[in-house]
Amino acid sequence: MNARPVAESVQWVGAVDWDRRLFDELIPLPDGTSYNAYLVRGSSKTALIDSVDPAFTEVLLARLAGSGAGKIDYVVSQHAEQDHSGSIPRILSEHPGAKVLATEKCKAMLADLLDVPGDRVQAVKDGERVDLGGVTLEFLHFPWVHWPETMLTWVPERRVLFTCDLFGSHLATSATFAGDDPAVLHGAKRYYAEILMPFRGVIEKNLGRVVGLDARVIAPSHGPAYEKPGAILDAYRDWVSGPPRNLVVVPYVSMHDSTRRMVERFVDACARRSVRVEQLSLADPDIGKLAVLLVDAATIVLGTPTVLGGPHPKVAYAAQLANLLRPKARYVSVIGSFGWGGKVVEQLAAMVANLKVEILPPALCKGLPKQADFEALEGLAEAVAERHAAL
Ligand code: FEO
Repeated sequence: MNARPVAESVQWVGAVDWDRRLFDELIPLPDGTSYNAYLVRGSSKTALIDSVDPAFTEVLLARLAGSGAGKIDYVVSQHAEQDHSGSIPRILSEHPGAKVLATEKCKAMLADLLDVPGDRVQAVKDGERVDLGGVTLEFLHFPWVHWPETMLTWVPERRVLFTCDLFGSHLATSATFAGDDPAVLHGAKRYYAEILMPFRGVIEKNLGRVVGLDARVIAPSHGPAYEKPGAILDAYRDWVSGPPRNLVVVPYVSMHDSTRRMVERFVDACARRSVRVEQLSLADPDIGKLAVLLVDAATIVLGTPTVLGGPHPKVAYAAQLANLLRPKARYVSVIGSFGWGGKVVEQLAAMVANLKVEILPPALCKGLPKQADFEALEGLAEAVAERHAAL
């Protein structure tokens, strides 16, 4: 198997997982993914940046053989999660003289997760450099992207920045570079939404450090590399720091049509007030669509029938997911229906306790929606429009 050139003395030696459809048994992968590993060769030493998911160890080994690299001196473990570190034990056994370079915290995690012996790992400090012979690796600690042990690796002579999960996309492709393919930016947004959005504040604080490097190539651990990094850096700046947009996302479930009628009337009421709305049926199992919408939405309106006194379990799941992802939404409300009573609003409000949001007045109908219910929806749409006008 061939290695692919990324820059002078830098090659991609990873694996493309065309068929994977779920990550962490949670995150849908409609477009597969890749596990990117890179080889950096100096005149005296060779370093492997990350490895691949354990299921693809043989692919990594075949690609390393195809690269003609021979002995590996260092394995840089930027992140201990197994989709990047899982093949390290095998690499260490194939290259008995190789040392793993990782943060102190990553060293401990590699021992916990993969039984990597401590004497095979050399902890590196933030800003520490390792000379490969005319090519340098500089390590940039970047904790909480997206685990506490994470670091990035900079090769100043080539202006290549390896960024681990940051700037990644779950995208199986034969292309090494993103080029101008809009699918890559969309994939990167989905990846950010599903994986990195909870760490928005950390990324925001550290983005300046990344931008200041003026990288020629940004090489993440999933999806294609960026040979024109400006677009992905601009996109991240907007996703992490930009204000929320004039957008309401309405994830909903309807069992006997009452909630659907409420949702449709609310969507119409918002549209008449020039508020953009995305109506999203949670019957669709791809929860990633909701995550992407949460990147920009200023308002989340949960649409639910009442099931055994509480929200429909699929709506509860969506609320808990939003709570975990911590999007920049400022307003939340609930619309829906009930047969005889319940506490859907209180229960859903408790489920989004992480969000710093104002809870707008809900609108729930008893049985089929009636004129008073439609008026409540108009009132809610008006409240949303007023607040969005001030964004
Ligand atoms: Fe792609 Fe956090 O692992």
